[in-house]
Amino acid sequence: MTVQEILKKKENNQKIVMLTAYDYPMACMADEAGVDIVLVGDSLANVVLGLSSTREVGMAEMLHHTKAVVRGVKNALIVGDLPFDAYQTNPKEAIGNARQLMDVGCHAVKLEWFKQCPETTQAIVRAGIPVMGHVGLTPQTAPEMKVQGRDAQAAQNIIAAAGVLAQKGCFSMVLECVPREVGALITRQLKIPTIGIGAGVDCNGQVLVLHDLLGLSSRFQPKFSKKYLDLAPLIVEAFKQYRKDVQEGRFPDDAHSFHMPPEEVNKLN
Ligand code: KIV
Repeated sequence: MTVQEILKKKENNQKIVMLTAYDYPMACMADEAGVDIVLVGDSLANVVLGLSSTREVGMAEMLHHTKAVVRGVKNALIVGDLPFDAYQTNPKEAIGNARQLMDVGCHAVKLEWFKQCPETTQAIVRAGIPVMGHVGLTPQTAPEMKVQGRDAQAAQNIIAAAGVLAQKGCFSMVLECVPREVGALITRQLKIPTIGIGAGVDCNGQVLVLHDLLGLSSRFQPKFSKKYLDLAPLIVEAFKQYRKDVQEGRFPDDAHSFHMPPEEVNKLN
C-alpha cells in the first residue's frame, strides 16, 4: 500500500481500514487480515506501557516498537506517530524525528493539531515526508478526553484546522471524537481522505486501537470503540489453568518432556 493508493481509495469511494499495532505478532496478523494502514500510535503509552498519558512516550519507545511492527508488515502502509516532544518544540527537530521514523521503515508520520502545527506540517512535507494530520480530540494536549466540536463555533475551529493542514500538504486526516455531522462535513470539504475514530460512518476510513478491538485493554472503553473480541478474560483463564497445572504437578506431562534412552540412563546409576 502506498500513499498514492490511499488517495485513490477516496477517489474510488473505497473505505480505508487503519488499525494500530505495537509489536511483531500483531503487525503480522493485522497485515494478514488485509488492513490498509498500520499505525504505530502513541497510544502505545496507555495500552502497552501502562502510562497514564500519551505525552509520556518519547522517540526511543516509538522507534523500538516501530522496528518490531516494520518486521511484521508486508503490504500495509506503516504510519508512525510523532510523540509530543518530538515535534511540538520546533520544526527543525520535528523533521529530524520524522526522518528517524522513516529510516526505521515507516512510510509516513502522524502528528496532532497544536498551535504551530501548520508550519511544522509544511516543514516535514517539504522535507519529502508524507504527513497524516490529526484533529478533533488530540490526546497529547487536550485538557479532557471528551467529544470535541459539539457547538457550531467549536466545530468551525476543527473544520478550519483540518482545512489548513490539508492545505499544508497532509495526505490524510484523522478525525477523533467529533460529532458525525462534523466528520461528514470535513470529509466532503477535503480532497484528502479522512480517517475517523469516533467521527461517524461518513469518514473515508476508520481506525481503532488494537487493544480496544480485541478486548485486551483494562482502560476506560470509549463509546466509539468496538470490542470485536473479549480476550482478556480468556487469557487470564489460560494463565490460571497453567498455574494450577504447575502447582498440582500436571505440567509438564510426558508429552512435553524429553527422555534419555534407557541404556544411557543405566550408565548414570
Ligand atoms: O495513538 C493512537 O492510537 C492514535 C489513534 C487513536 C488515531 O492516534
